[in-house]
Order: sequence, then structure tokens, then C-alpha cells
Amino acid sequence: MCGIVGYIGTQEAYPILIKGLKRLEYRGYDSAGVALLNHSNELNVYKAKGKVADLEYSVASKDTSGTIGIAHTRWATHGEPNDANAHPHYSQSSNLALIHNGIIENYMVIKQELLRNEYEFKSSTDTEVLVHFIEYIKETNNVDLCRAVQIAMGEVVGAYAIAILDKNNPDQIIAARKSSPLVIGIGEDEFFLASDATPIIEYTDKVIYIKDEEIAVINRGCPIKILNMTDIEQTPEIKTLEMNLSQLEKGGYPHFMIKEINEQPQTIVDCIRGRVSVEAMDVILSGVLDHKDKFLNAKRIIIVACGTSWHAALIGEHLIEDLCRIPVEVEYASEFRYRNPVLNKEDIVIAISQSGETADTLAAVELAKASGAFIYGICNVVGSSIARATDAGSYIHVGPEIGVASTKAFTGQVTVLSMLALTIAKERKTIEKELYVSLINELAAIPEKMKKVLEKNEIIKDLSKIFTYAHNFIYLGRGYNYPAALEGALKLKEISYIHAEGYPAAEMKHGPIALIDTEMPVVAIATTDRIYEKTISNIQEIKARKGRVIALVTEGDDVVCNIADYCIEVPKTLEYFAPLISAIPLQLLAYYIAVNKGCNVDQPRNLAKSVTVE
Ligand code: M6R
Repeated sequence: MCGIVGYIGTQEAYPILIKGLKRLEYRGYDSAGVALLNHSNELNVYKAKGKVADLEYSVASKDTSGTIGIAHTRWATHGEPNDANAHPHYSQSSNLALIHNGIIENYMVIKQELLRNEYEFKSSTDTEVLVHFIEYIKETNNVDLCRAVQIAMGEVVGAYAIAILDKNNPDQIIAARKSSPLVIGIGEDEFFLASDATPIIEYTDKVIYIKDEEIAVINRGCPIKILNMTDIEQTPEIKTLEMNLSQLEKGGYPHFMIKEINEQPQTIVDCIRGRVSVEAMDVILSGVLDHKDKFLNAKRIIIVACGTSWHAALIGEHLIEDLCRIPVEVEYASEFRYRNPVLNKEDIVIAISQSGETADTLAAVELAKASGAFIYGICNVVGSSIARATDAGSYIHVGPEIGVASTKAFTGQVTVLSMLALTIAKERKTIEKELYVSLINELAAIPEKMKKVLEKNEIIKDLSKIFTYAHNFIYLGRGYNYPAALEGALKLKEISYIHAEGYPAAEMKHGPIALIDTEMPVVAIATTDRIYEKTISNIQEIKARKGRVIALVTEGDDVVCNIADYCIEVPKTLEYFAPLISAIPLQLLAYYIAVNKGCNVDQPRNLAKSVTVE
């Protein structure tokens, strides 16, 4: 989704801005642009449809000088991706240039008013309406830019993170946010501005996360000033970033996705470090233990999430109901927020989000908060909006996930949900000691088992060649592996553009079995568990209709391997943790099929890493 970068200081801004935009490419975008105030106080705006490299090419012979600038990658919402709709947008007088991440919902009403006042528009965007509106307020109220932004923000409805340059004030950037993320990095006599910390980390580890409805006034050579919408000065909270630059590089892999798939044995170690102890035979998830009473008294847990995080939530439902005997409901955040749900004070709402910025999940959190429910966050990005909006939570600690397709975040989320279920189950005394001990041992063994799965890389790569040109896929699983099937199908469709559907295996005969023929590959997750025998029957049903079956089985399972057309063997684990193992071959299969097809694996078409608009 849109990315914002800004710089003010003593260095040339352009190279810093371009590098920053490249660091944000993973968020997904379709055009890019930059605004620079040069040493003669000319405000130059350059924009181009396509990649940041296209922007660089188009400005090669232009004036890119200046020590203050803002830049943007746009993910189209209002108006098609083209040069005109790309940001920054000039105001009517061309004195202001503005970049924006988010949506201004009432832009049509504002546009009508501006049209009546003879404003002219060069784009179809809500962003151009916003910059004209701010200038209109500035002129008609005779106020400075900061005050004009405050007044405008009181009138616009929607989500935004914005940054503005003013030709008549060449030593200042004004930035503001509501619901869309904005981080300011503090260097020596310089400030960096970005949608997340990735463009900032190589310059400074000191950052301020701008809060909702705050305005940052960044003046060259002065301390930063943060104001709220009613002009009351706020004390900035300076945080220290924990990530490092090497975590943002590909480390010799051709794509971030394959790097992140291969990182999983280590990311699970990082996720359970200090939380799972085989010596003490205990799990200590402090976010839960600090709020023990809430979990002991919980009548119901509702988990809200989107996409892959929603699949992790379905596994969480199994784990919590199985081990803690608390009823769990899993909701798409986008549906939950608009359906007037019944919520009580004894409910716990768990929000799962890798980015911590997903607009629908954040809105679901706000809605649940208003009902008085206790809100627990499971996020990856430290200091993200959801992490800050929740009452308590646990980070998954898997490091920055750059590939748009979520991989290591999924297994990290499932691992945190496993630790959460074990911690609650122990406190509520709903788990037998023997099972508790064996689950702790097994969780600690997962990273080594993941390494064994990754050794199947070449087998899966070869298999991918057979199916590269399939048009449809079905993924089947049952119990804990049903969400794993959904996740496998999502991975394939989002990066290879092959239509894929996940189904509970037994549901096949209620309709989808009509699709089965020799052209339909079926990925069946058939590792040993409580309903293994039933899954075998489901595979037989597919074979009887000449479907081509790729089976994921537990090592040494000749029964399924004799029925299926192709087999991928994975190490045995307890069914509670089956998705942690099953996910990896499915990620690899999707990855290699997409690579074979020549797809842009890390930045699939139309997708954004961080979906900050609804
Ligand atoms: O950052 P979040 O976990 O809140 O993101 C949710 C979804 O947008 C995300 O999982 C999406 O489905 C990914 N593209 C899946 O690979």
C-alpha cells in the first residue's frame, strides 16, 4: 500500500528519498513520485507510473537538488495508476506539494465546494482535493500551514498519513496522521519521515511514532514539535528501533519470499526464546500472565484478522478450544467491524496482524475497545498501530517480512497462538500434565523439523515444473490442517495467479467434487492425526474421479503414497502443530510455480503488503 518518505537536513534529499522508496517497494505500489525544494526555493515535482526505477529514469536530466523533499509510492484507490494520479500533488498555486497514504471518504463533497470556487483538478484523486482544500483554508482563514492542516483534518472523513512542503517555507515539513502509519527518524541535524521504519533504519535508530490525530511540525535545525488537532503541544516519545539493516536485505536469495521461507527454523527459535523452556518444562507468555484474571474469567474469545492472519486465527480457534475449553469465534475483521457484533466485558478479542497496520483489523480493535472487551494483539511490527491500540499482546518476533506473501509471519502467529493456548490451559487447569509436557517438547522440536522439511526443496521444485501451467488447484485438509489448506491455496493464487481453493476434505462431496477431472491437481494434506483414515477416504474419492493428487504425508506413510500421484513426506509432529510443518512445502510449491511462470514473486500484481485502506 502507499509508502511515504521525507527528508529535511544537511544532505542532498533526492538519493535518500529514492533509497527510502525502494525500501518501501515491498508494500506494493503502481506509481511513484518526489517533490524537492531546490536551493533557489523552486518546488519541483516529478512523477511516473510504474516502478521507482521508472521515476529515476524519467528524472535523469532534471534538477533533483535540494536538502528537503518528500516522496511517495502510490497504490491506486481513486483513479487509475498513471503519471497524473501519482503523488505528490501540487496545490492550485503550486506553492504546496502533498503526499498521502489513505482515503479521504468525503472528497467528493469537498471537491464540489472547491469547484464552486473555481479550483481546477489535474487528477482523479482524493489527494489532490486534499491539497487544494488545505490551501483554500490557509488563504480564506489567513492562517499558517500547520493551522490550515488542523482545520482541514477536522473536516475530512477517512484515513490519512500526509506530508506537505511549502515553497514559501523552505525549512519546514508538516506531517499528520489518522489511522495510517507515520514514523519520524531523528538524526544529527536531520529528520527522516516514513510509513514504517525500514527507510529510516540505516540513518538512525531513534524514532517517534506519530499518534492518531497528531501533527508533526519539522523545522530544519530545531527540535520537532508535535501538536494535536486543537493545537495543544504533545510530548514526543522517542523509541529505539531494534531491527538492523541486514534483516532488510535478500542475503543471497533471489527473492525475499524464499529467504523468508528458509528463515523459519530460526524465526521460530526467536519466537519461542525466553518463552518456552524445556528445562523448566514451562511456557511463559508474559502478555497473558500479566492479565491472568482476564483469561481465567473469559467467557468467550473472538479472534479478528484478515488474509493469512485469519488462517492463523482458525488454527488458534482449534488450539484454544482443544486445550483451554473456552469458546472461540474467528471473524474477518472487515465483516466484524460493520456487523454490530454482540460483545461483553468478559469477552477477550484477539487481533492478529503481521503489519499491525491493516485498516480493517485496526477498526475492529477500536470497535471492540468501545464495548469494554479486553483486547490482545498478536503483531510482528513493533510499535505498529494495532500493537499500540491493544490492551496487551505478544509480538511474534520473526523480523521484518518484506515479501508480500506472508510466510514466516504465519508460522510465527501460529507459534504465539500455541504458546498462548498452553499458558491459558495451564492457568485454567484444563490440560493434563502429560500432554502439557509433550506439547512443550514438541514445540521446542519444531525448528529442527522445519529444517528437515526445507531439505525437500529440490523435490518440490521438480514437482512445481509438472504443475506450472495448471489453471486451477484444490487444496484439501481436515482439522488443524484445514486452515493450512486455505493458506496453501492463498499462497498459490496470490503469487502465481493460478485459481486455487482450499476446502475441508470432507466438504468436497457437497459440490466441489464436480470439478475433479484429469486436469485438476488436488493438494491433499494427509499427515497422521485423529482423522487420518477419513482423509484417506477423501483422497480415494478424488482418485476414483481421475483427479491428480499431490499428497503431503508423514514420513514413511506408504498407504497414502500408493494412492496419490505424487508424495511429499514431512517429519511426524503432534497434530496441534501440524500446520507449522505443512505450511512450508505449500509455501515452496507456490513459490516455485510462480518463479517458473516468471511472476513478480515479492510484489504480486494488485497486492499490497500493508493494507492500510479498507
Ligand atoms: O499485516 P496483516 O497480517 O494484518 O495482513 C493481513 C493480510 O493482508 C495478509 O495476510 C495478506 O493476505 C497476505 N498477502 C497473505 O500472504
